[in-house]
Parts: sequence; structure tokens; C-alpha cells
Amino acid sequence: MKKTVLVTGASAGIGKATAIYLAQNGYTVYGAARRMEKLQELKAYGIKPVELDITKQESAEGCINQILTEAGSIDILVNNAGFGAYGSIEDVSMDDARYQLEVNVVGAMRLTQLVLPNMRENRYGKIVNISSVGGKIVFPLGGWYHATKFALEALSDSLRNEVRGFGIDVIVVEPGATKSEWGNIATDSLMNVSGHTAYKDLATKTHHVFTQLSQTIAEPIVIAKLIKRGIEAIHPKTRYTTNQMASTVLLFLRKILSDKLMDKLIMSQLN
Ligand SMILES: NC(=O)c1ccc[n+]([C@@H]2O[C@H](COP(=O)([O-])OP(=O)(O)OC[C@H]3O[C@@H](n4cnc5c(N)ncnc54)[C@H](OP(=O)(O)O)[C@@H]3O)[C@@H](O)[C@H]2O)c1
Repeated sequence: MKKTVLVTGASAGIGKATAIYLAQNGYTVYGAARRMEKLQELKAYGIKPVELDITKQESAEGCINQILTEAGSIDILVNNAGFGAYGSIEDVSMDDARYQLEVNVVGAMRLTQLVLPNMRENRYGKIVNISSVGGKIVFPLGGWYHATKFALEALSDSLRNEVRGFGIDVIVVEPGATKSEWGNIATDSLMNVSGHTAYKDLATKTHHVFTQLSQTIAEPIVIAKLIKRGIEAIHPKTRYTTNQMASTVLLFLRKILSDKLMDKLIMSQLN
């Protein structure tokens, strides 16, 4: 029996690659996002486009109800939709901060709440939360983005032990720098928000690091494969992390270094 998957943020980047890869590997895939025009090309892979703004309860309910009516169940939810609202803590407006949390954290948990009754009833389900290496390591001017990924990591740890008894697995996937629309959205917000303030030097240096990173960036299919590995494992790991060298080294150093040494290391990247 084909499993039904909902991938959020399927109009670009990691979500799009994941939707296509899972459809090519025998899953019934629903790809959701706000930009319906971008989702149309997914139809060629047999993916069913669904309109979704994860910040809106009505839109999320409409999306889930449509899939449940058509497919009968949602076996796997990939909470992938997200973006980076960059800028210093002082400069990011409270409205922008709230919106960042609303998309990356509340939106993902809104969909999780909506799929859980069906998964519990079926005593089967996989919830994949797309966090980030930035859910473990923090760079300045990314405070709100990192806060959303740290929150997603914590919520996943809580949820995992809440739903395990219902036959539901919770899997965290932590990409490193990956080719997508994410980088441009993050650097645009960084420079718009802090490019002309007291933090402009740090913003310019951070922008430079992003530009350098974009040269060693992974293809989104790498993360799509990691997601497939997680959902097909009989006993999935709690976390699947990108094996890009830079991320692996940083995560290892985060484990062994003190906060102050880690600060030195991070700031040395911004000089
Ligand atoms: N790329 C990286 O380097 C990287 C690294 C670590 C983690 N990640 C994480 O990976 C995930 C996917 O990002 P990506 O790199 O693939 O970025 P992307 O290319 O910008 O894709 C983001 C997706 O999220 C959707 N989205 C944004 N706001 C939404 C909303 N309010 N409602 C519904 N959908 C919304 C977008 O669709 P619409 O605009 O059409 O709605 C788009 O499909 C994110 O959670 C990101 O934080 C990315």
C-alpha cells in the first residue's frame, strides 16, 4: 500500500527536491506552499499541489482536510516550510520576529496538531521536522532564525516521547548550507534590516560569509535522500544531520568547546 506524504514548502529548494524524490520512489505525494503557480510543474511527477499558508489556521485545516478526503490518510508529514529572518536582535522588529516564529515553529506545530488524530487512529505516522545545523550552532545576526530551529529541536524531543506509544516516529533532519531560495531571502533581510544600522559592519561580514558558503553549498537532493532514509528506517534515528565537512566539524567543535571558545571560533569566521 502506497504511503501518503505531505511535504510543506514544496514550491522550492529542499521541499521541492523531497517531493519529487519521494514521488519517484513510490509515495503518494502532496506538495504544499503559498505559490500555487510554482507547484504546477510538480504535477509532471504525479505530485498533487495543495495551497497552504502555514501561518493561517483556516488554510492549514483546508489543506489537511482536502488530503484526508482524497487519500484517506496522511502517513508522513514533512514540516519543511521555513525561512530566515536575519538582522540584529536590536534591529529586527517585533512583528518580523513574531512572523519568523509563526512560520518556522507555530506553523509546523499547527500542521502536526492537525495530522496527529489521523496518525493516532491508524497507529502509524512519521513526522519529519526540518531543523538545521543552525538548530545547534548560532551565528550573530541570525538570532531569531536560530531560535526557531532550537525551538523545533526542543518540540521534536518532547513530541517524540508523547507519540511514540501511538506508533508515530518523530524525526529531526538538520541540513547545512543547501542550494535553494533560502540564502537570498536571508541575506536580503540581513542587509535590509541591519545593513545601515550600528550593526552594519557585522552585517557586511556576515553577508560575505554567506556568499562564501554559497560556493560549498549542497544540492537539495542530499537532504531529500536523508529524509527518505529517516522515514524508511524501521528504527529511525532521532536526528539525521548533513555530512558536509564544514557542518560536521562545527557540530563536533560545539560539543567539545566552551561557549567562550565557540564564540571566538564563530567571530573568527566573521573577520
Ligand atoms: N537552504 C539551506 O541552506 C538550509 C539550511 C538549513 C535548514 N534549512 C531549512 O530547510 C527548510 C527549507 O528551506 P529551503 O532551503 O528549501 O528554502 P526555500 O527554497 O526558500 O523554500 C522555502 C519553502 O517554504 C515555503 N514557505 C515559506 N513561508 C511559507 C508559509 N507561510 N506557508 C507555507 N509555505 C511557506 C516556501 O513556499 P511559498 O513561498 O511558495 O509559500 C518554499 O517552498 C527551511 O525550514 C529552512 O530553514 C535550509
